[in-house]
Amino acid sequence: MNVVLDTSIFLGKFLYYFLESLFYKIIPKKKKDVTGEIVLITGAASGLGRLLAIKFARLGAILVLWDINEEGNMETCRMIKEKRDAKVFAYTCDCSNRQDVYRVADQVKKEVGNVTILINNAGVVTGREFLKTPDHMVERSFHINAMSHFWTCKAFLPAMLEANHGHLVCISSLAGIVGINGLSDYCASKFAACGFAESLYFELKLLQKSKIEITIVCPYFIKTGMFEGCLTKYPLLLPLLKQEYAAQSIVNAILEEQLYLIIPRFLHIALFLKQIISPNMMITMAEYLGMDISLASFIERQKLGEFQTKTERKQQ
Ligand SMILES: NC(=O)c1ccc[n+]([C@@H]2O[C@H](COP(=O)([O-])OP(=O)(O)OC[C@H]3O[C@@H](n4cnc5c(N)ncnc54)[C@H](O)[C@@H]3O)[C@@H](O)[C@H]2O)c1
Repeated sequence: MNVVLDTSIFLGKFLYYFLESLFYKIIPKKKKDVTGEIVLITGAASGLGRLLAIKFARLGAILVLWDINEEGNMETCRMIKEKRDAKVFAYTCDCSNRQDVYRVADQVKKEVGNVTILINNAGVVTGREFLKTPDHMVERSFHINAMSHFWTCKAFLPAMLEANHGHLVCISSLAGIVGINGLSDYCASKFAACGFAESLYFELKLLQKSKIEITIVCPYFIKTGMFEGCLTKYPLLLPLLKQEYAAQSIVNAILEEQLYLIIPRFLHIALFLKQIISPNMMITMAEYLGMDISLASFIERQKLGEFQTKTERKQQ
């Protein structure tokens, strides 16, 4: 194609999409209707997963809840059914185990139908310095926080592609876009989850499958208990997020089909600065914000023996 024509088309589209994004900053997009959509949430037994399930049930969606913690998952199911006549299906699934994911996915397809909104939310944190992190915990972080996304997407994306309708949601973290000390395996696995979802976004858009949406969620600490004991130095700048606020922001981002959700919003400035300032300036900024010591008082949940995967049980 003629270079001048090609460049003009590019500039025209670029300007159009720039103005479109400005427009949507001022006037939020119309929220989509999720009535009757089959929403699968991994890690639905507690925290964010539970709240997201309750919120999507309120919006009229059919819920499929997955968790390794059977009791907590059943409790989420009960909490939803107690309030409304919703369709909710709970399955015990170890998302770190590929065979388990494929087996339970087949069961869901037979018993409930094709999942149209997949929320990869299950996650774990180790919270130890790199050399103090046992190998099996590094593997566990990757299996749950990143690899499981590959298996769930492999299981449910084909039907979405066939119907040209669906939404994949990756619950990553601020730690998926910025390295944080004491979280090497968590950060690396969350970066992997972000990279996987972003790559899939481009792959799907270039396939012209524009009706399959992707949302990548990167929040700072949320008060769910996962980062128990973690502190923030300046709550006004970087607050520990309330569960309710985080869950509602995620639901809104999904309904408005946003690609990225980074909360709190102040982090957009910090991330922009990260691209342009020197490493020493970055460390100074991290120290000023107290990010270097935020994990100092972290209380490790794993010591309580929760959420053991099949691999971990075998290793003991
Ligand atoms: N809490 C935070 O500060 C925070 C911040 C950023 C991102 N996130 C992310 O949000 C997501 C939800 O976290 P949360 O804060 O609600 O914590 P949470 O511990 O309450 O929820 C995590 C859920 O994942 C489940 N899970 C763990 N291993 C599993 C496995 N092998 N198979 C199936 N389920 C498994 C747990 O049973 C639990 O119900 C996670 O991906 C987490 O990394 C949390």
